[in-house]
Amino acid sequence: MRRSLVAGNWKMHGRSSNAARLAAGVRDGLPAECGAEVVLCPPFPHLPVAADRLEGGRVRLGAQDVCEREDGAHTGEVSAEMLVDAGCAFVIVGHSERRSLYGETDDVVARKYLRARQAGLTPILCLGESLGEREAGSTRRVVERQLTAVAEHCGEEAFRSGVVAYEPVWAIGTGRTATPEQAQDVHAFIRSLLSARWGELASGVRILYGGSVKAGNAERLFSMPDVDGGLIGGASLDADEFIRICALSG
Ligand code: 13P
Repeated sequence: MRRSLVAGNWKMHGRSSNAARLAAGVRDGLPAECGAEVVLCPPFPHLPVAADRLEGGRVRLGAQDVCEREDGAHTGEVSAEMLVDAGCAFVIVGHSERRSLYGETDDVVARKYLRARQAGLTPILCLGESLGEREAGSTRRVVERQLTAVAEHCGEEAFRSGVVAYEPVWAIGTGRTATPEQAQDVHAFIRSLLSARWGELASGVRILYGGSVKAGNAERLFSMPDVDGGLIGGASLDADEFIRICALSG
């Protein structure tokens, strides 16, 4: 049985005072009966204040990106060990905004995934096709290429109890969410790829859906057999809305 996971990706929003309020709001508002694992991913400068508010509670901390290299002369970068030191347990890698706006290739994403794993973090690997790719019928080919790059570079151990997030680019920040059936179709495909490679391991990998998830559409998405939770952008900036989504996930 996979425990559901809901992660809030705050992206580049807010000041430390908002981060403190939001983290405390989620910590205090999460109902005791919510069985999901809940993670907040603030921007780097807000990690300390969020870590402070979440300390000792059940909400975990994550980052939005990590450097693929070890500590050293890499101006502007943040290492996996620094994230652990800041209190992170998770890190998002390969978000489509990093791929499209900052030129992250499949190879860089694979190296980030492995580095995160080596430092003891759980990477949340983002995959997903653009609108053009979906319309051209290339969704499976794109997702397979993105997943295979990481699987081949990192190997079976790195995927044990891994987390993958299917985030169709056309659904991110657009209000146009994938239908539950579209999400299930791609999630099942991702699991079949993992299963073909590593058998039983695939059933333990959590596959999250991301892209315009709100409290109003989360329940149907989360009811799909291969949707194990969500990676939430805009709706994670409102503590009450985010908590409602968490409560719907299990
Ligand atoms: P939205 O929920 O704002 O569409 O963002 C999704 C996302 O990119 C999460 O990583």
